[in-house]
Amino acid sequence: MISAQMKEFKIGDLTIKLPIIQGGMGVGISLSRLASAVANEGGVGVIATAGIGMLEPDFKENYLEANKRALKKEIKKAREFSKGVIGVNIMVALSNYADLVKTSIQEEVDIIFSGAGLPLNLPEFLKPNGSSKTKLVPIVSSGRAAEYISKKWIETYNYPPDAFVVEGPLAGGHLGFKRENIDNPAFALENIMVDVLKVAKQLEEKFKKNVPVIVGGGIFTGMDIKKFLQLGASAVQMATRFVTTKECDADDKFKQTYIDAKKEDIVIIKSPVGLPGRAINNKFIEDTNNGEKKPFTCPYHCIVTCDYKQSPYCIALALLNAFKGNFKNGFAFAGSNAGRVKEIVSVKDLIQTIKKEFES
Ligand SMILES: Cc1cc2nc3c(=O)[nH]c(=O)nc-3n(C[C@H](O)[C@H](O)[C@H](O)COP(=O)(O)O)c2cc1C
Repeated sequence: MISAQMKEFKIGDLTIKLPIIQGGMGVGISLSRLASAVANEGGVGVIATAGIGMLEPDFKENYLEANKRALKKEIKKAREFSKGVIGVNIMVALSNYADLVKTSIQEEVDIIFSGAGLPLNLPEFLKPNGSSKTKLVPIVSSGRAAEYISKKWIETYNYPPDAFVVEGPLAGGHLGFKRENIDNPAFALENIMVDVLKVAKQLEEKFKKNVPVIVGGGIFTGMDIKKFLQLGASAVQMATRFVTTKECDADDKFKQTYIDAKKEDIVIIKSPVGLPGRAINNKFIEDTNNGEKKPFTCPYHCIVTCDYKQSPYCIALALLNAFKGNFKNGFAFAGSNAGRVKEIVSVKDLIQTIKKEFES
């Protein structure tokens, strides 16, 4: 076992003072306010790009432009409020994936985190001659996925990943596991991270390059962080715990659902995008489980894998409504630990608490 300290780590030439990545949370839950607050504490603040254009007034008529505009605006705002490390989270399954990646690289965002599918062509969008500053980090749920992505990136672009995020089955939002594997201990984060560490080590030896492994999903306290650093991770990705902060970009009612949630309220849903997802149960979820349809129009087919003709509701709209605090027409995605926090604190205070927990 490695003796763990909350020490800085590097992704390429970027130094990250605090080994905590704030996981991207769409729709709208992690934008520039949360991301800049985390970056100011030395971690990586991450803007979620899923549905980001839905926050613009013209998103229905001008979907693609609205998304690019909103993303540029959020990156600029995050830069204005922080000199720290800012990333974006771009889901492979988004139909405007290429647009969002190109915009992020143009805006010289520090890191792109990309999962919910295999980001096989991500390096294609980098500027030629290695002149891009942006680091590319796939989010995976198995060593096999890490290996396959690395092989493709090296074969096609001679570009090994700059780091990996391994997301385990206790995470919030869409999960990269079959429903029946979510509770199977063989797929626990502690186990799947071992395989990804092996892939990273092979890359490090071959390319003489540092390939840190970041782990996430159910990591909540400083004690949890210590445990995973001891198991060989360079950093952790945390999302759920950042929701109940003053700076989290969601409506206060969204944060309140986390505070009110009990263990038994955290459920696995079958998302219209074809993946299981973890969320806080409510009437909206129960209605749709009971076969009720929530009518919607789909002008832009935002998620490639969404079976929108069969789907009982629009997931993007349901998440947007939740972000705005409208739970009659939506629901909150959440990690397995939602409900453990009973108050809203500043990101600064949260990081102090986590550091104390780590030391204790
Ligand atoms: C409300 C919410 C929204 C999320 N949205 C996204 C997303 O848009 N893209 C993504 O890759 N992961 C998303 N996630 C997953 C997180 O980025 C993170 O990896 C995971 O939740 C970590 O587990 P934790 O919440 O237990 O800390 C979301 C999680 C939550 C709780």
